[in-house]
Amino acid sequence: MTRNVNERPIHADATEPKSIPRIAIQAFCETPEVAAALEAASQDRRMSRTHVKVLMGGLPAAVEFYGSAPTPNLVVVESKGRSDEILGHLDGLAEVCDPGTKVLVIGHVNDVLLYRELIRRGVSEYVVAPLDLFDVLRTIGDLYHSPDSAVLGRSIAFIGAKGGCGSSTVAHNVAWSIAKTFDNDVLIADLDLAWGTAGLDFNQDPTQGALDALLSPERIDEVFLDRLLTKCSDHLSLLAAPALLDRIYDFDELSFDPTIEVARGNVPVVVIDLPHQWTGWVRRQLREADEVVIVASPDLANLRNAKNLADVLRAARPNDAPPRLVFDQVGMPKRPEIKLEEFAKALDLPIAASIPFDAKLFGDAANKGLMIGELDAKHPVAEAFRALSGVVTGRTEIRRAKKSPFAPLLEKLRARKAS
Ligand SMILES: Nc1ncnc2c1ncn2[C@@H]1O[C@H](COP(=O)(O)OP(=O)(O)O)[C@@H](O)[C@H]1O
Ligand SMILES: [Mg+2]
Repeated sequence: MTRNVNERPIHADATEPKSIPRIAIQAFCETPEVAAALEAASQDRRMSRTHVKVLMGGLPAAVEFYGSAPTPNLVVVESKGRSDEILGHLDGLAEVCDPGTKVLVIGHVNDVLLYRELIRRGVSEYVVAPLDLFDVLRTIGDLYHSPDSAVLGRSIAFIGAKGGCGSSTVAHNVAWSIAKTFDNDVLIADLDLAWGTAGLDFNQDPTQGALDALLSPERIDEVFLDRLLTKCSDHLSLLAAPALLDRIYDFDELSFDPTIEVARGNVPVVVIDLPHQWTGWVRRQLREADEVVIVASPDLANLRNAKNLADVLRAARPNDAPPRLVFDQVGMPKRPEIKLEEFAKALDLPIAASIPFDAKLFGDAANKGLMIGELDAKHPVAEAFRALSGVVTGRTEIRRAKKSPFAPLLEKLRARKAS
């Protein structure tokens, strides 16, 4: 349903609400009015790509809920309480918030000091009820469009140390697992244009995808990108490779930048499935990604290549975490293998995951166009992909340590108590 812009009340800030990226939003309200405004906003076209859940119970319910569930991209909490009550509950929420989660507080007291204190503690915005659907749209839109807001999406590039070592298989399973486990929207960019298998792996036959984006860099924006995506599951979409040989795929170093940039601006997690090549654009994507995963099988050529890759990446990204090392096809019958610990030691990298060779399991999954987690959610391999999805999204270590966006403050408080 679209409304005439002129019908709506004039606001002090009468800027047009902006389209909101593919984020997951969960709200814990205390009044039916605020819940209704959020529900109404969630039906608006500008929020058509978001996943919204509106629940009641306010801050206490949120704190309890996220004690055992991952936090979405945006948590909205309403409180009718006084400033000190809001701040008290907020510390509880800080304890259970994952990194990258934004918090929007809707209160009933117009208090500048409270506002300042909330922002200081890492809350993204504090607004005062009553609010209507346009206030909701504008407030959330501004969180993702203001010039100083960080880019939304985390990009994770996967590359194999050798062709066929399982890099795409791992990338697709991890992407699926992130979408499933964290209810987070994930985009897979299959950049192996000639031979990419993401379409096959997800049992899709897309007619459009990565090539269309590449060939029209001047057209690429969120609307155009949306049209090129194929939906694989509730939270997972694919920018597919043509996998046709009717043309050759030589590209300049920067050719893929506009596509990945728009993807990262609109989707919280972007998985980049790179071909086993060493071209300017592959090197560039590896250098620019937030996370790099090297997939290797434990043999000599893989070791040499993985070592070279790790060295190049360490030099090109001196201020980033080193790449993650994932073994796949481990324990292939009759194949002499290098010990995983020795392989990892030569690269000076910890082992992020080790996936056993299982021709039946992976063969069945490939033939049926299913992920391992869809075939058998309880299989140890599905569990390994789940664990890896926590690592590459930065959630696993954090959950264990219960670290949060508000952590610096909490540490300060603890230090003060201790002294
Ligand atoms: N752990 C495994 N056990 C058995 N087969 C595997 C395993 N991992 C991947 N495969 C199979 O290996 C083949 C190559 O995998 P792929 O992911 O396309 O490699 P890459 O992207 O590195 O070239 C595929 O047929 C895939 O199903
Ligand atoms: Mg591949």
